[in-house]
Amino acid sequence: MDEFRRIDRSGTNAEKYTLRQKLFGTEDVEPMWVADMDIATPECVIDAVKERLNHPIVGYEVMSDSAFEAQILWMKEHHGFRIERDWLTYSPSVVASIGCAIRAFSNEGDGVIVMDPVYPPFYSMVKDNRRSLILHPLRRDAEGVYRFDLEYLRTQITPQTKLLLLCSPHNPVGRVWSRDELMELGQFCLNHGIVIISDEIHSDIVYSPHRHFPFASLSEALRENTITLIGPGKTFNMAGFSISTVCIASEELRERYEAERLRVHWGDGAALSHTAFEAAYRHGSSWHRKLIGHLDKNRTLLNEWANNHPLIALSSCEATYLAWLDCRALGLGDRELREFFVREANLGLSPGLSFGKEGSGYMRLNFAVATEVLENALGRISDALKRRNDV
Ligand SMILES: Cc1ncc(COP(=O)(O)O)c(C=O)c1O
Repeated sequence: MDEFRRIDRSGTNAEKYTLRQKLFGTEDVEPMWVADMDIATPECVIDAVKERLNHPIVGYEVMSDSAFEAQILWMKEHHGFRIERDWLTYSPSVVASIGCAIRAFSNEGDGVIVMDPVYPPFYSMVKDNRRSLILHPLRRDAEGVYRFDLEYLRTQITPQTKLLLLCSPHNPVGRVWSRDELMELGQFCLNHGIVIISDEIHSDIVYSPHRHFPFASLSEALRENTITLIGPGKTFNMAGFSISTVCIASEELRERYEAERLRVHWGDGAALSHTAFEAAYRHGSSWHRKLIGHLDKNRTLLNEWANNHPLIALSSCEATYLAWLDCRALGLGDRELREFFVREANLGLSPGLSFGKEGSGYMRLNFAVATEVLENALGRISDALKRRNDV
């Protein structure tokens, strides 16, 4: 059976489907927004959970060393990053870890650097924890590639700027930051006493020839100045298990983080999640390879489509299954643009503006679907564009 066939998610409370009415005002849209995949979670994960349920008690459990070691091995083999067991702790959510780290490493009123555009909870975590947002707008160069602008950032920071939130690879613009770009950013932070929280949840979905560099693996100084957030949620489509890890090499930072972690008391997580986590990292390699092949095929399809549709340009997608569509040539306001996709193409995409001011005129499309679903969606956009032109 085709592993990447269309899966009917009705009856599962899948957010992507259940929230359509609320978000788009109609159920009649193909949902291509929130970042989970309409692709079956690997069998090795499902089988391990079923096996665990052969035992009749599902009580409090600690996360075993063996589960952490499975992730350590994965990180070494896939990213050349050597993590020590002591550096890792469990977290139920990368976003929750961001909040915890913000509180651990800054005080109310301190500045936190956030790139624009970026995954929306980056902003809310800063604001909800009463820190002040220091915006770092990403710039598109002459080839349309998004770049850091450290010259500009230098003018925005103050001695109260304590943290930088990095999204690597980047959601939504799809960049895999190069070693040089990261080194330059890292040096900037070291020079200004800024600790880096590096959200690397998308690091396993990277397309050749690009390569992800874990920020903390770049140098000893950066290792000691970085909080890395990683997890199997995106890689193996298992966000519903609510499990990820926080990796901190510096003993001093680890102690500060641990004090805050104890205050929120999220403990060690759920038994079935530990089982799923370990199975994914231990046995998910060949499934993951096939997944990248499937996503890359969809990515090629998107590129070919965009080449034939000059009104919608695709930012170069080096990682993630999220396409960042530049729709500015359509000449629509952000509200009209969203309505165009909902009403005229029957598609539920994420509006660019929800990722920040710099996202105005863009839409984000999740292409982790069966290829026929993507073909159908692109066909609907083509038809909607044609109808517009014919009027
Ligand atoms: C960059 C990024 N970080 C974090 C998350 C969510 O992680 P979690 O569900 O573990 O909080 C997402 C989900 O889309 C994401 O894109």
